[in-house]
Amino acid sequence: MNQIDKNRLFQDLIKDFLPKRKKSKKFYQKADQYLIQGGSHNLRLGKPFPFYDSYARGALVKDLDGNKYIDFWQGHFANILGHNPLFITEALKEFFGSGQGLVTGFPGQLQEDLAKLILESLNAEKIRFTTSGTLASMYSIMLSKSFTKRDLVMKVGGGWHGAQPYALKGISIYSDGLKHLESAGLPQNSDSSIIMTKFNDEKDLEAKFLKHGDKIACLILEPFIGAGGFIFADRNYLEKARQLTDRYGAVLIFDEVISGFRFAPSALQNIYSIKPDLSVLGKTIGGGMPVSAVAGREEIMILCRPGTPLESRVKFEGGTFSAHPASMLAGTLYLQYLQDNADKIYSRIGYMGNKARQEIEKIFQARGFHVKCSGLNQEIVKQSSLVGVHFLNESVDRIISPEQVWNSNICDIEMRENIFRLAMLNEGYNIFHGYGSISFAHTEKDIRSSLKAVERVAERFKKYRY
Ligand SMILES: Cc1ncc(COP(=O)(O)O)c(C=O)c1O
Repeated sequence: MNQIDKNRLFQDLIKDFLPKRKKSKKFYQKADQYLIQGGSHNLRLGKPFPFYDSYARGALVKDLDGNKYIDFWQGHFANILGHNPLFITEALKEFFGSGQGLVTGFPGQLQEDLAKLILESLNAEKIRFTTSGTLASMYSIMLSKSFTKRDLVMKVGGGWHGAQPYALKGISIYSDGLKHLESAGLPQNSDSSIIMTKFNDEKDLEAKFLKHGDKIACLILEPFIGAGGFIFADRNYLEKARQLTDRYGAVLIFDEVISGFRFAPSALQNIYSIKPDLSVLGKTIGGGMPVSAVAGREEIMILCRPGTPLESRVKFEGGTFSAHPASMLAGTLYLQYLQDNADKIYSRIGYMGNKARQEIEKIFQARGFHVKCSGLNQEIVKQSSLVGVHFLNESVDRIISPEQVWNSNICDIEMRENIFRLAMLNEGYNIFHGYGSISFAHTEKDIRSSLKAVERVAERFKKYRY
């Protein structure tokens, strides 16, 4: 419905983009000789080439050519306090200066501080650290399989839990639904051992449990689905997930890698008052350093303890860099800061999120484009600082499911991820998933100026209508 000559628009945007990014282009051509498409994470590659930064502090980033941008990508949404907050970088400097900080291989005292802080804020029993959300989600599923002595994993369509073999199904490949394997190289029985259900669909959940219930080891889901479209779970849905997993003896896992400490100085489970058996955490809990964790019920967590009988023992026990000293320090200081300043932080970033969502819709609507934002405040979560923008091929009231997001008849992902992104880069704003995440380092002026840029971009898009 947004009938735009996308090819011509993209080519014209590139023409504006390239002259000011000569160094970046050269760097890319060199990097491409060594790295796959010049980088190590596909989402960072972007078109026509990745954003190579030379400076990042607060809301500001600079590229290799010295161009300045306000950044709403913010380290894959991890940096809720903006880039490189001084209190973290200074603390790390001091730590390193005192002859500590790099990996030692000793358990270290600092991990106790971070463990205590997270467990108290989540009201969970035990925690174990690792280094990425991917690994943590994989271990949470292995723990569940061992605990239940069952094999089936249930996940929701659109749910992203990192590239690990128990959850690489039904993420973004849409062909009559989100239900296809998303990677080569998986164990042979992957397709049949991962059962798909629909996000926020109680009936589907009930039907799937009725059919497979006694074989399901775990249900893993994001209470705020990220890659699936920035959509909050309904409270009733999470309650149903809790009831059904209890009834059928399956483990309920909340993947709170995005939502943990994003909407409050705890996790979404605490806002909703629904307790999973296990939680997966990452991103924010490391304060900019690589930290992730599985936290939850002690009787499940202890299956990775030495001495557990071999048939139940889960090899969640390695990790040269797990609980890395500098990461533990950064994570503890960061979360402590979020807790101490929660009143100021969450209301402000939530307010700015709301403003961005409302205004972006209005701007496009006023120019006749079908655009909807997601990440909306709702009854339970009133302070959402995550902003998704969806360009619609079909008029819908609201984005309520990943199935809409990934169905190209409804949402135009290319428009969001390539064209709008490039147009906003030209304006000096680095956005992601249509806009991205607002940090405490952003000011209201940043938001206002970004909305002016959206206006200019929308005006430009009008010229490419057919
Ligand atoms: C909900 C969710 N789970 C897991 C992961 C994987 O985390 P990581 O990228 O740290 O491996 C991500 C990453 O974005 C995520 O959004």
